[in-house]
Amino acid sequence: MYRKVILMLAALVAVTALATAAGAQNFPKMRELRMDRATPPQGTACIECHKQETPGIFADWAMSRHASAGITCLDCHQAEPGDQDISVDHEKYYSMGNLPMGEKQYFVPIASPVTPKDCSRCHPDEAKSYAKSKHANTIEIMWKLDPWLNGGMNSDNERKTGCFYCHGTVLKMKDGKLDPDTWPNVGVGRLNLDGSLGSCTSCHTRHRFSVMEARKPETCGQCHLGPDHPQIEIYNESKHGDIYQAFKQEYNFNSAPGAWTPGVDYRAPTCASCHMSGSGNQPTTHDVTERLSWETQAPLTVRPADFKPFPSGTDWSVERDKMKDICRQCHGQSWIDDFYTQLDTSVEEYNEVYFKPAKKTLDELYEKGLLDKTKYFDEHLEVQFYELWHHEGRRARMGTAMMAPDYAWWHGFYECKHRFNQFMEEAKHHIDSNTKAYRYPDFPNATGDPTRPEQIFGKK
Ligand code: HEC
Ligand code: HEC
Ligand code: HEC
Ligand code: HEC
Ligand code: HEC
Ligand code: HEC
Ligand code: HEC
Ligand code: HEC
Repeated sequence: MYRKVILMLAALVAVTALATAAGAQNFPKMRELRMDRATPPQGTACIECHKQETPGIFADWAMSRHASAGITCLDCHQAEPGDQDISVDHEKYYSMGNLPMGEKQYFVPIASPVTPKDCSRCHPDEAKSYAKSKHANTIEIMWKLDPWLNGGMNSDNERKTGCFYCHGTVLKMKDGKLDPDTWPNVGVGRLNLDGSLGSCTSCHTRHRFSVMEARKPETCGQCHLGPDHPQIEIYNESKHGDIYQAFKQEYNFNSAPGAWTPGVDYRAPTCASCHMSGSGNQPTTHDVTERLSWETQAPLTVRPADFKPFPSGTDWSVERDKMKDICRQCHGQSWIDDFYTQLDTSVEEYNEVYFKPAKKTLDELYEKGLLDKTKYFDEHLEVQFYELWHHEGRRARMGTAMMAPDYAWWHGFYECKHRFNQFMEEAKHHIDSNTKAYRYPDFPNATGDPTRPEQIFGKK
């Protein structure tokens, strides 16, 4: 490994030299990559003691690119002055003579959380791009629009074991330690004590931190699944997913970052190929909103720039061209254009035929006082309306967007029709007979705290 890195660096220098000679009038700034392999004794102590105490962590690290580049435990875990999340308990191991290097002289304060800010020391571009993403900002987005949270309709435990596992917690300290209500957690939008957002380990699990893992669809599928956003199921149904299953042992998931090449390293795209990896003229991005032209998860499908809780600041047609550039590595122009025509038609039909009429009827029920606005989900019609856009309406749109006919139709528009008919019939009955909808008197476990986190929204 060590030799390989040296060889790679030598090759890089050689290529740079050639390139400079060829374009004599242009002298782009030479990149400096210096390897400092000298590990201080405090860093050696981490490795020696943890090799014995947590052999799994040691082994993972030893197999990582970080280990071969001389990045040690200390580089990521060393606490900085003023850090709130210092592990006070850790000091005691340095007075345990029975542990390897368990001596006071090697002591350094450490923190357990390693945040995007810590990684940004060496990976500034990835951290910057990630910080703008919906992934990083999802706690804010959730609290701006989610009825479960804002209405307190589920319990704190239901949130902790569900929502926050995927979306992330607001990390807190309690009695000098990380508050177990908020930790451990590796949700995509975790708010860290240093103010940075997210957890890079959502996709690059510790301590391998591998690019190979992040390129595989299963990595995204941990969160992107289920009735309301079945992207992994959709992918598995698509031809792209089928080819992945059939040929994945021939895919080269280990090519260098940014150099993963369609056709050469893989035959059909994974989630990462379409949404994140560099391909064609497109560089790698850590902002998953790039390359998108619609908000297909929203109740009414809008352009990303018009998504009120978190306007993307992008131009949808520019982003669409980026995605098309990815497709173009393997498909012809008319194949791609015709695919997008189908997607736009599905979006239009969903918006106009299903969503807007249902929304109009829902508003009428509220206006007439036949549905009660004080709580969401405590009347059957509210649940029906929610599932129309949040479940089958999303599946129909996303099934079309990612080439899965069963999700576009049977789990999608077919179910939309059922839901729409039931909803409209029940609504019509209340409007015609001027009767109020039945309210569930004891909505179960609606005990969650509806206060927005002040770390994000400020004090009330
Ligand atoms: C002399 C032994 C020893 C040394 C040296 C040592 N550790 Fe530890 N460390 C431990 C033990 C034991 C644990 C607890 C493991 C457990 O909970 O079972 C631990 C726990 C940790 C934790 C988790 C702490 C928490 O609060 O959850 C981190 C992170 C950590 N070590 C990193 C480091 C780093 C980085 C270094 C070097 C700066 C280091 N360790 C040096 C023995 C050591
Ligand atoms: C590239 C940065 C990086 C390096 C290098 C690194 N860690 Fe970590 N470590 C992390 C991250 C990220 C986490 C997860 C914490 C989080 O979610 O914020 C973590 C978590 C831990 C934990 C607590 C998690 C658990 O499962 O108990 C321990 C203990 C730990 N590291 C020890 C080590 C040791 C020992 C080394 C060196 C052999 C090391 N780390 C090297 C980034 C790193
Ligand atoms: C002290 C510098 C340093 C820190 C801190 C650091 N890295 Fe790295 N990282 C490197 C170097 C050097 C490489 C090897 C060169 C490369 O592949 O880009 C690397 C490589 C990587 C790779 C590519 C691995 C592969 O399979 O090709 C990933 C992913 C990564 N780091 C993630 C992280 C994450 C996440 C963190 C924070 C938890 C982190 N790094 C912290 C220096 C660092
Ligand atoms: C299995 C992981 C997972 C769980 C559990 C989960 N979510 Fe999500 N959530 C996601 C993913 C993935 C998306 C992205 C959907 C998309 O864009 O297609 C999402 C989207 C959302 C959105 C829409 C954001 C937007 O940009 O419009 C909200 C709001 C939300 N979730 C809130 C919640 C709440 C509240 C809970 C618990 C009651 C919850 N989620 C449970 C993974 C999860
Ligand atoms: C949503 C999943 C996801 C998250 C979260 C994520 N990454 Fe990545 N990362 C990827 C993918 C996919 C690639 C592979 C790109 C390619 O094919 O070359 C990658 C590649 C990398 C690389 C290799 C160099 C490059 O840019 O291609 C580094 C370094 C890296 N990530 C660091 C980070 C850091 C630091 C964070 C946290 C700020 C982070 N990643 C969070 C998915 C993720
Ligand atoms: C730990 C959970 C988790 C993992 C792993 C994860 N995501 Fe997400 N993803 C989410 C959540 C939560 C959202 C919703 C964010 C929001 O809109 O508030 C989301 C949203 C998205 C979006 C929609 C962005 C937008 O602007 O509407 C895309 C695209 C996406 N993820 C792609 C990926 C890809 C590709 C991977 C794997 C490389 C991945 N995600 C891995 C949780 C995850
Ligand atoms: C063939 C390329 C391709 C693959 C493979 C792919 N996607 Fe997509 N994805 C798309 C396209 C195209 C869209 C719609 C883009 C638009 O809005 O214009 C989309 C939309 C999305 C959205 C946005 C939903 C929203 O919020 O509007 C999410 C989330 C997503 N994909 C996640 C994933 C995940 C996770 C995987 C893997 C399990 C995956 N994608 C695989 C091309 C792909
Ligand atoms: C790495 C190459 C690659 C990329 C990138 C790629 N595809 Fe494909 N795609 C394929 C292959 C291979 C097939 C299977 C062709 C066959 O059926 O013989 C396929 C099939 C399809 C199909 C047919 C599905 C079916 O069930 O018949 C559609 C539609 C499609 N791709 C659209 C897209 C779109 C849109 C993009 C970009 C968002 C894209 N592809 C990106 C390789 C790719």
